[in-house]
Amino acid sequence: MTAKPWLQLATERSFPEPSQWLTAEELRTFQRIKAWQRRQDWLAGRWAAKGLVREYLRERANLALDPAQIEIGNAPTGAPLLQRPLCSEIHISIAHSAGYGLAGLALGAPIGVDLQHIRAVRLDFHERVLSEHERAQLAHHFSGREGVLVFWALKEAAIKAQRTRPTPALREISVTLTEPGQAEISLGTQRLKAQWGRWGEFIWAWALTPLTSSSDR
Ligand SMILES: CC(C)(COP(=O)(O)OP(=O)(O)OC[C@H]1O[C@@H](n2cnc3c(N)ncnc32)[C@H](O)[C@@H]1OP(=O)(O)O)[C@@H](O)C(=O)NCCC(=O)NCCS
Repeated sequence: MTAKPWLQLATERSFPEPSQWLTAEELRTFQRIKAWQRRQDWLAGRWAAKGLVREYLRERANLALDPAQIEIGNAPTGAPLLQRPLCSEIHISIAHSAGYGLAGLALGAPIGVDLQHIRAVRLDFHERVLSEHERAQLAHHFSGREGVLVFWALKEAAIKAQRTRPTPALREISVTLTEPGQAEISLGTQRLKAQWGRWGEFIWAWALTPLTSSSDR
């Protein structure tokens, strides 16, 4: 069975008033966030993640929950954690960019997702973050400015799947593009499989360890 995570994207305009769908603990966390953009991003990420958990539990466990019955916290590493309902099998990951949130869900092993708004990045990013092998792939596969963001998103997704703090440097992660939209990633002794794609003005990516037994969709 091919491991394939569940993904959901939420926009900052797609969710109701926070007090209607956040738990009391989540509301306290939200109220501690001061910067406007960070508040929008946080909400978009939480809304996407709760939507995904709800959809998963409805389809796979025949369990219908309101968003306020689902609680998502953060582990000391910063990684998101499903705290209610308790289900240690479910792993989630969250990314936000420009007011949009992306969530991924996988079973049995950590997943990482990332979302990058397509934009110009500093020229020295290539030298600082990409190996010679990755720069050769970049030149071979891409002509536009999204290419470097594909590598960036894949590396950040791998970091999130690893769930450590401090996080490894992007340079320590090695990406090999395989088939279109697919990649293999090496991070220390870990080998992750990954996918990426374009959604409007965004590049999305997810990374998983091969042991994951998540659902096919
Ligand atoms: C952890 C890290 C990957 C988060 O990425 P980001 O671009 O800051 O933010 P994103 O919107 O993509 O993701 C944020 C989410 O990642 C999750 N996250 C944070 N730390 C995490 C960790 N250690 N493991 C897994 N997930 C983590 C959280 O859910 C967070 O959202 P939340 O706080 O709303 O719950 C990033 O901060 C990091 O450490 N990168 C290291 C590489 C680097 O140096 N990058 C800079 C490039 S120049």
